Amino acid sequence: MSQTVKSHVTRRQFCRAAAAISSVGAVSGGLLALAETQPTVINTTGPDSLRSHAAPHGLLFGGAVNPALLDVDGAANGTTTDPYTLLFAAQANILVAENSMKWGALRPAPDKFDFTQGDRLIRFAGLNGQRVRGHNLCWHESNPAWLKATANKDNARQLLTEHIQTVAGHFRGKLHSWDVVNEAINPPDGLPDGLRKTMWLDLIGPDYLELAFRTAAAADPQAKLTYNDYDIEQDTPKQIAKRDAVMALLRRFKAKGVPIHAVGVQSHLDATAPPAGKGLQEFIREAAKMGLEVFVTEMDVNTHAVVGGAEAQDAAVAVVFRDYLRLVLAEPNVPIVLTWGLDDAHSWLSQAHGNQSRRPDGTRERPLPFDDDLKPTPAFLALREAIDTAHRSAGGNSKL
Ligand code: XIL
Repeated sequence: MSQTVKSHVTRRQFCRAAAAISSVGAVSGGLLALAETQPTVINTTGPDSLRSHAAPHGLLFGGAVNPALLDVDGAANGTTTDPYTLLFAAQANILVAENSMKWGALRPAPDKFDFTQGDRLIRFAGLNGQRVRGHNLCWHESNPAWLKATANKDNARQLLTEHIQTVAGHFRGKLHSWDVVNEAINPPDGLPDGLRKTMWLDLIGPDYLELAFRTAAAADPQAKLTYNDYDIEQDTPKQIAKRDAVMALLRRFKAKGVPIHAVGVQSHLDATAPPAGKGLQEFIREAAKMGLEVFVTEMDVNTHAVVGGAEAQDAAVAVVFRDYLRLVLAEPNVPIVLTWGLDDAHSWLSQAHGNQSRRPDGTRERPLPFDDDLKPTPAFLALREAIDTAHRSAGGNSKL
């Protein structure tokens, strides 16, 4: 089915993007050299897809998807011509629901669970030989209004436990991994251990984290249980403090025998921010010593502050994809990269502000490997090249 996707980037487009990097003074040699080795039309499907390039390295590549937009029946009988559906089938060997498995989406009322979209995702992934991540079981956002109105100190523990038992139980044995707790660290809140001030912390206390992981482990013993957070990539004082607090949380978990298998580094990056470096590398290596994998769970690159048009933005985004993924994929305990959406049209950066771009010139951002028309951007090639150079032996991690 992937063969029917006709999307390509021309070498000329890519060279122009690479040239634009040098005009803004960033490193361009590698990208330009890469562009020059590409054929005039760059194929992105079949053996040229991201999933095909990832597989021999033992890597999983994928993206966040809206299952409601997938033509699952068409995919099942081989008749779909829907570009969004074909894109996900062609490129990903792991998928995650952008929103459909969050509390707010699947628990419309205290006693009502709606697994329709999650089940569609599982079915679609099964048709395409793809794994699925669960996202997420415990967060301070995207919760239903009834939860805030109903939860109190007497019932919060029960509400959280029952939710995890029901949801992780429903998908038991079908998921690669679960983001059990999302974004629980925020040192600026000034609380002990850098914990974020959330409803769960207020009502249950710091034990809510451990409770969530232990409950998830019992409900789905096969899923890799993950702690997922953002703004822990760079070596700025703020991000260093947050990364250290996340590492301290992981150490407490390990010391107490809390079941945890991986840490998700969301990787919502900014094209004009300092690049990730030593700090993240050391974090990944510390995690490895603790027996933890590290997943890149939500990568995208915003261009809020890039001066210039689409070409300059594409160039800046491609550099970040290349350099960031080279850094992290050099580490043997990083087996997975997911981007937050595959194409710009469906990126949360286009939706988050009511479609109002945060760029001063009002133009839309191009944060992902495919653009609004589902054509590959220079970031696609940068991503694929980073996958190709990942330090990993053929066959990769046997646990995958
Ligand atoms: C975002 C979705 O992309 C949006 O559509 C939704 O309105 C809010 O959530 N970190 C996470 C994701 O862990 O769940 C968030 O997804 C993006 C930031």
